[in-house]
Amino acid sequence: MFSLESKVALVTGAGRGIGRAIALQLAAAGAKVMANDLDAAPLEETNALTGGLAMPGDITDPAFPALLVDRTISELGGLDIIVNNAGYTWDNVIQKTTDEQFQAMLDIHVVAPFRVLRAASGFIRESAKREAAEGRRMQRKVVNITSISGTDGAAGQAGYASGKAAVIGLTRTMAKEWGRYNVNVNAVGFGLIGTRLVQPLSDDATIEVKGREIKVGVQQAVLDKVISTSPLGRAGTPEEAAGAVMFFCSPLSDFVTGELLMCTGGMRF
Ligand SMILES: NC(=O)c1ccc[n+]([C@@H]2O[C@H](COP(=O)([O-])OP(=O)(O)OC[C@H]3O[C@@H](n4cnc5c(N)ncnc54)[C@H](O)[C@@H]3O)[C@@H](O)[C@H]2O)c1
Repeated sequence: MFSLESKVALVTGAGRGIGRAIALQLAAAGAKVMANDLDAAPLEETNALTGGLAMPGDITDPAFPALLVDRTISELGGLDIIVNNAGYTWDNVIQKTTDEQFQAMLDIHVVAPFRVLRAASGFIRESAKREAAEGRRMQRKVVNITSISGTDGAAGQAGYASGKAAVIGLTRTMAKEWGRYNVNVNAVGFGLIGTRLVQPLSDDATIEVKGREIKVGVQQAVLDKVISTSPLGRAGTPEEAAGAVMFFCSPLSDFVTGELLMCTGGMRF
């Protein structure tokens, strides 16, 4: 139905979960993929599957987004699709949430996407101007990943929900700034997708960020409740999650911008 042959895509957080599924689907559609993740080993597995390029690194490091964007353009020959997917949760009720914790959630979910897009803006503007002068219109794509926590709020997630809400504002603003450059900027929000992020809480369910072990996961009772009250009655798969993102990466969405698509199996919080 469509091909992404000759397109270059950048996916953050592509070492596992939804980001890996997005990278694989983009590659299957013909795109050359630059994959990024904090964790080098799973990222290499993704890279072996996409046959693209991988650049491990912390997307919240202020200097890193520009390096990632520049390397994508110089080594893959352009930049047509950006998926800001990297993310994690660091939950607590507000009285137990530290400044560092709240800021970390803003840094990963909205500051890093902002820096990636700012780093890409020069290339995007120059490319669009050159293409217009040649009488061509090339549609480029940005997809920012948000969450039902950002749209509905979720107890214990003041920081995460704030970051995920903020990235919707960034999405709608960039749709307005970049419409003239033929860039579709949209967001996809997930409910419960079966990845490491939403595994049942346990002492083993931790991730390492900036040398710190952070507990990730969701209480089993909460998982059971949201699943049983959602219309489709189950969690989604990473591949199903990637499907909604692929719509916004493809020509099928060329006249859709500034929108938020919820991919939740009908779940509301
Ligand atoms: N799984 C869900 O139910 C769900 C629901 C709503 C939103 N989301 C969002 O979907 C996105 C993908 O999450 P997932 O469920 O696939 O989780 P996941 O933990 O399986 O994958 C997330 C990836 O992001 C990477 N990452 C985290 N911090 C990073 C950093 N600073 N720099 C580079 N990479 C980093 C991790 O190493 C990991 O590989 C996230 O933005 C998440 O908030 C997921």
